[in-house]
Amino acid sequence: MFSRIARPAAHGLIRGLSTTAQANARVTVLGASGGIGQPLSLLLKNSPLISNLALYDIAHTPGVAADLSHIETRAKVTGYLGAEQLPESLKSADVVVIPAGVPRKPGMTRDDLFNTNASIVATLTDACAKHCPEAMICIISNPVNSTIPITSEVFKKHGVYNPNRIFGVTTLDIVRANTFVAELKGLDPARVNVPVIGGHAGKTIIPLISQSTPKVEFPQDQLEVLIGRIQEAGTEVVKAKAGAGSATLSMAYAGARFVFSLLDAMNGKEGVIECSFVRSEETESPYFSTPLLLGKNGIEKNLGLGKLTAYEEKLVSEAMAELKGSIKKGEEFIKSRK
Ligand code: 2OP
Repeated sequence: MFSRIARPAAHGLIRGLSTTAQANARVTVLGASGGIGQPLSLLLKNSPLISNLALYDIAHTPGVAADLSHIETRAKVTGYLGAEQLPESLKSADVVVIPAGVPRKPGMTRDDLFNTNASIVATLTDACAKHCPEAMICIISNPVNSTIPITSEVFKKHGVYNPNRIFGVTTLDIVRANTFVAELKGLDPARVNVPVIGGHAGKTIIPLISQSTPKVEFPQDQLEVLIGRIQEAGTEVVKAKAGAGSATLSMAYAGARFVFSLLDAMNGKEGVIECSFVRSEETESPYFSTPLLLGKNGIEKNLGLGKLTAYEEKLVSEAMAELKGSIKKGEEFIKSRK
């Protein structure tokens, strides 16, 4: 029996801890030359689970690919440059990770990125639907609360939609919650697991501190400060970078952790659980992040919200309007797109 909040092994994130598992996954990164794309590609290159790493972007991929290709790990790295090479980068992909797009500047919300990133994600996922309709699609590009509905609508248009294979990467929220709880309680962050549900923007990020392992408790005032910090952690980084972008290194770590979990599950490992923003029937929101049991074909089972405290229930109901609005915005964008 699996626990709904088991912490996955971070294969390849720490070389010395990698298992001897060998697998032959082809992973494509769309937006591989960017702030997230480069460190993400580095972490993926370090994984024994990946035999082929295809790096696509509109600039600099020959250099990034040449650089990474000298690393003494088995993944064969290939670079693809510009729209005409996009189809080739997706050929035979098992997993596609998409960090492409522009990041926030101070004062911006993730939704402020919609106008630029919605088109980028629609164009890239259109190519995925055509050239690797069976691949697992992991979207990092913000606003995730809208880019997942965009991806789903694009796949529906092509008649190849499978909701079990389209994931909004919210792992950074879990990573941050684990780190902050560990700091406050003097624990090893590697042993903490806090499920985070909802979406990936401000108040829609809902950490379930009551379900964390090991069990931790905070007085209500401290709990509210902690939850507020987790919800605004992306903004904390945007402010600290002072115009130079948003989280890239921690996001790359989180993206890699999610991909390694997915690959583990695709390779038949049992009990692999990650939270992700996906098509969902767990709440009145058509997309929602909850812990998911992953398997060979993507989502095997949605493990749901679990037992919430009254305060967590309030956070969920307060997130609904924003979540549904962002989802609708993504869906409408594709409906009105030529
Ligand atoms: C963050 O949470 C970039 O959305 C990302 O920092």
